Amino acid sequence: MGQIGKIKGCRVVGIAGSEEKCRWLRDELGFDAAINYKTEPVLESLKQYCPNGIDVYFENVGGEIFDAALSLINLRSRIALCGLISQYNATEPVPGSCNLINLIYKRATLEGFLVLDYFDRAQEALADLGEWYAQGKIKYRVDVIEGLENAPRTFNKLFDGTNQGKLIIKVSENSD
Ligand SMILES: NC(=O)c1ccc[n+]([C@@H]2O[C@H](COP(=O)([O-])OP(=O)(O)OC[C@H]3O[C@@H](n4cnc5c(N)ncnc54)[C@H](OP(=O)(O)O)[C@@H]3O)[C@@H](O)[C@H]2O)c1
Repeated sequence: MGQIGKIKGCRVVGIAGSEEKCRWLRDELGFDAAINYKTEPVLESLKQYCPNGIDVYFENVGGEIFDAALSLINLRSRIALCGLISQYNATEPVPGSCNLINLIYKRATLEGFLVLDYFDRAQEALADLGEWYAQGKIKYRVDVIEGLENAPRTFNKLFDGTNQGKLIIKVSENSD
C-alpha cells in the first residue's frame, strides 16, 4: 500500500517491528520514513515524520499504534480499517481507542476494508500492479514454506513477526 502511495505522489511513513523491515521499507521500497514500533516511541516518531499530520492511514494493527495515528489525523482524512492484528489473540475484551473522538473533530472517514469486496476490480489492480512491477516501481518479497503440514507453525509467524514477506504455503508442484 505504501508503494502505491509513493507512485501516487504521497509522502509515506511505514511502521514495522524490526530494523531489517524498516530498512526494507526505507531503502528498498522508497518510503520517506519507517518507524520501528518495538524500539521507538511511535507517537513521537509519527509527529517527527508527519509534521503536517496524516491525510490517509491504512490500518492493519490496532491498539496503541492506531491511537497514535488517530491523534495526528488531518481535517477530512481517510482511514481504511483493513486489520487489527494486535488483538486477534486477545483472551479478554480489548479496550477501545482513546482518540476516536478525533474522527469527529477532524470530520474524518473511517471505513472497514475487505479485499473481496473489490474482486470485480481485480483485473484493474493486476494491470496496474503488473505495469508498476515491470517498471521497477514496486517490489515484493515472499516467504515460501513447503508442505501443508507446516501450516499451523507458519501461520504463527504472522503473529511473532518472523515472516519477512507475504507468507505462502506450497502444497504442490502443480499450479493447476
Ligand atoms: N481486510 C482484508 O481484506 C484483509 C485481507 C488480508 C489480511 N488482512 C489483514 O492485514 C494485516 C496483515 O496481514 P497479512 O496476512 O498481509 O500479513 P503481514 O502483512 O505479513 O502481517 C503480519 C505482520 O504483522 C505484524 N504484527 C504481528 N503482530 C503485531 C502486533 N501486535 N502489533 C504490530 N504488528 C504486528 C508482524 O510484523 P512486525 O515484525 O512488523 O511486528 C507480522 O510479520 C492483518 O491485520 C490481516 O488481518 C486484511
